[in-house]
Amino acid sequence: MVGLGPRKPPSRKGSMMDVPRDLLDQIKWLEEQFYIPTEKLKQITNHFIHELEKGLSVKGGSIPMNPTWVMNYPTGHETGTFLALDMGGTNLRVCEIRLPEAKGEFDIIQSKYKMPEELRTGTSEELWEYIADCLQQFLDYHHEGEKLHHELPLGFTFSYPATQDYINHGVLQRWTKGFDIDGVEGKDVVPLFEAALHKRGVPIKLTALINDTTGTLVASGYTDDQMKIGCIFGTGCNAAYFENCGSVPKLAHMNLDPEMPIAINCEWGAFDNEHVVLPLTQFDHTVDQESPRPGQQAFEKMIAGLYLGEIFRLVLVHLHETGHVFEGQDISKLKKAYTLDSSFLSLIEEDPFENLSETADLFLNRLSIRPTQPELELVRRLSELIGTRAARLSACGVAAICKKKNIKSCHVGADGSVFNKYPHFKARGATALREILDWPADLKEDPIDIRAAEDGSGVGAALIAALTLERVSAGNLAGIKAENA
Ligand code: BGC
Repeated sequence: MVGLGPRKPPSRKGSMMDVPRDLLDQIKWLEEQFYIPTEKLKQITNHFIHELEKGLSVKGGSIPMNPTWVMNYPTGHETGTFLALDMGGTNLRVCEIRLPEAKGEFDIIQSKYKMPEELRTGTSEELWEYIADCLQQFLDYHHEGEKLHHELPLGFTFSYPATQDYINHGVLQRWTKGFDIDGVEGKDVVPLFEAALHKRGVPIKLTALINDTTGTLVASGYTDDQMKIGCIFGTGCNAAYFENCGSVPKLAHMNLDPEMPIAINCEWGAFDNEHVVLPLTQFDHTVDQESPRPGQQAFEKMIAGLYLGEIFRLVLVHLHETGHVFEGQDISKLKKAYTLDSSFLSLIEEDPFENLSETADLFLNRLSIRPTQPELELVRRLSELIGTRAARLSACGVAAICKKKNIKSCHVGADGSVFNKYPHFKARGATALREILDWPADLKEDPIDIRAAEDGSGVGAALIAALTLERVSAGNLAGIKAENA
């Protein structure tokens, strides 16, 4: 390989021995497309720092850097009973969380409701009606026959970019993760949501609208005081961390105490929408152009679970069309957009057999394709390359926040299907972080450690609701809409 710097050898010893020249050339080409060497990671990180700063400035940039009006870490002594609602991509989760007197503890009951696929591209009204129905069902089931004497405070995890003038308010900037519902972008989602609740007489008061990353940051900070960053690597990807108000020029007009902390939801999925530094392949361009929001979420489209399977699929279709794989086979199933999700790649990377027989079964059962042995080797290498690139790019975001804030050591709480389920994601990210930050090889422990987070959209949302009510009682009303006070 020319000019690509160090790279890990293929995962299984000798596995490429019987691969014919043509396929070896294709593998080499794929490595050149997808492998990101250390120097490039450093360059991306430096540009990232600049973009984080730009996002905090009055002029703004691609990365929104949204102030969240979450103004403090939990002390561990928060108390009360709260509802939490998480509007994820595939499920809707409703939780009731009790924060007892004992420090750092909580009790949780929860129900999950399937989010029908059609809702993602349906109407605004259908979405809010469905959510209100689920909340009503939850209360009917868990509080059957009880008379609720006051409205229950709710933390609503709405994991899309939203501009918040207040914590109980949020104007959707744009849909991400394949959502495309008319009539919500540019609107405050809280009145839309509350109208659906009122229509049904559901006794719930939205106390805080939060992002999943902020929830992750706060929930993890509840049990671990070294936690400085909350990340999601799932269907989408993003991070949140605390700034001081004095370091956020776009808040200067509010004359807030410059030392007061405020959590910033970076919305870093939008990093490099201008395509200045990311090493995009032709497949990334296709993913972008064929998405509902071309030109948006450039970074996310290379990393997040929603897109990894699609990138993989596009590469294989290209290799078939150029006569390199699956010759003479019917690839109609493979031709269907978004037919593969990141779990397909996970299964390939997890195949424990030398002859990749599980991968062969997967191709046959899911795609009606019978790959040859060398084609299986290529498929395995391609999965490794796509998964490794995602993990290495993720590390650039974490490194950028740490460098910007001059954080030399901390814990980073991470959640999401890719972080929790994609094989080697954590180890590959950690390797990249070591390369970017030039840590000496003999360090016993990584000073910045990305580890599994606490439940951000459940416990985190409840904690943020509790912190908001505490602030109201203490008279610190920055970023809280008057009617809540
Ligand atoms: C959204 C973020 C969210 C992330 C992870 C992105 O698509 O814009 O708000 O935090 O996905 O769920």
